[in-house]
Amino acid sequence: MSRQLLGRIATVAGALALVALLAVLGRAWWDSRLPQTYSVMSYGTHDYGGGPAPPDHSEHGGGTSVSALREPGHEVPDARFELTAKAADIRLSGGRVVHALTFDGMSPGPELRVHQGDLVEVRLRNADVDQGVTIHWHGIDVPNVEDGVAGVTQNAVLPGESYTYRFRAKQVGTFWYHTHQVSSTDVGRGLFGVIVIEPSERQPGVDMVVAAHTYDGIATLNRDEGGGRRKVPVGTPVRIRIVNTDSSEHTFTVSGTPFRVLAIDGTDLNGPTELRDVALPVAAGGRIDVGYVQPPHGVSVGLEGTSVAITFGPGWPQVSETKPTISFDPLTYGRPAPTPFSASSTFDRDFHLAITKKLGFYDGKPGRQWALNGKIYPDVPMFVVEKGDLVRVTIANRTRVVHPMHLHGHHALVLSRNGEPSTGSPWWTDTLNVVPGDEYVIAFRADNPGIWMDHCHNLGHAAAGLTMHLAYAGITTPFLVGGEDGNTPE
Ligand code: C2O
Ligand code: CU
Repeated sequence: MSRQLLGRIATVAGALALVALLAVLGRAWWDSRLPQTYSVMSYGTHDYGGGPAPPDHSEHGGGTSVSALREPGHEVPDARFELTAKAADIRLSGGRVVHALTFDGMSPGPELRVHQGDLVEVRLRNADVDQGVTIHWHGIDVPNVEDGVAGVTQNAVLPGESYTYRFRAKQVGTFWYHTHQVSSTDVGRGLFGVIVIEPSERQPGVDMVVAAHTYDGIATLNRDEGGGRRKVPVGTPVRIRIVNTDSSEHTFTVSGTPFRVLAIDGTDLNGPTELRDVALPVAAGGRIDVGYVQPPHGVSVGLEGTSVAITFGPGWPQVSETKPTISFDPLTYGRPAPTPFSASSTFDRDFHLAITKKLGFYDGKPGRQWALNGKIYPDVPMFVVEKGDLVRVTIANRTRVVHPMHLHGHHALVLSRNGEPSTGSPWWTDTLNVVPGDEYVIAFRADNPGIWMDHCHNLGHAAAGLTMHLAYAGITTPFLVGGEDGNTPE
């Protein structure tokens, strides 16, 4: 064969290889595009966690709709609220005005306080939030239909519409509420607030919320850019409920007093000991309650590395800044106490979740994508359980950034981290800060039937595919992502 001919064959072969490669890539791109409208039920790869595959009722048109999973009875609510979602200009303490999305013209929205055992009813009205709004009760294990996820448990509430939530406040603790429609932009713009479930007996002392949020790049605590003060008389027991409503982790400092960590994610800790010069990392979406007794000088709670802080005390107290040398670690803090199950229990289902990044297409966009068990959304695992199952989940973060993993509708008990067992107080979580390289083993009882989101609470990550679902066998949803209401939960 002549040189020329060989050259020509090589060119043709190269061109064919290129065409084949383009065809494969084109196919991957085409397949990755999310349809205009779809049911979350038809996505995900069913993962039974090594347990039996439950009979599939949904194929025969049977099954229970999420809409049936509601608070029973018709009693008159003990606590009733109305929240109106609307665009409004809010003024930060430094005078800057932010074009925000608000509940009742405020961001944070009104602080809701209810008592344990209350039947709570909240009517949501949407005045003018164009893309629609919902309310998700972050950390409150409500019946599924009250979960507020557009396209999964309800339709987005469009301008002029309203929707009523109703649930029994069974837990005690610090929670927050936020829209779960285009949450990756609208929570950041201000559609959130704090809800506290107080014990039914009155507690002595003062009880205050400190909510961190960044508006247009400006870090705030309770919409305050720094220097805020609250009067507290000497000797008063103080409980401060720290809530991180941002999409990134924040480290909080408590200066001017030793303190105790009283609760994590709304669950009280057992036997919390006194801490001093300890920094408190709080996951995006997570909460930590701290307690101390007011000394004669000021105590400040601040965002590490910034001048944003709120000072508590009598008069105009001076605080000496603390320089924390170590970070709070719930794995070894407090005293053990009996739990309904433990690391030595027999689990009905055992799931594994590895978070990685890989090259591929997400909704037609090429790049390095979030992958769950090696799969890019929507081909991610869907954990399927049956009511009553005891479930164990191992979560491994094999990426270079933190992922605050949030499971709706349940609280999980942390069993171990990187093989090291939890030896302190029982540590129940709904938003677990999984830092790069960490592997947690957690467990929960599947006692709240429904279809529940399980996602990263860096809401930008969730919108980029770090989202999956926990589904109970036999439960279906009539709601669709996309559709006429434009349901876009992330
Ligand atoms: Cu705080 Cu799925 O959300
Ligand atoms: Cu993430």
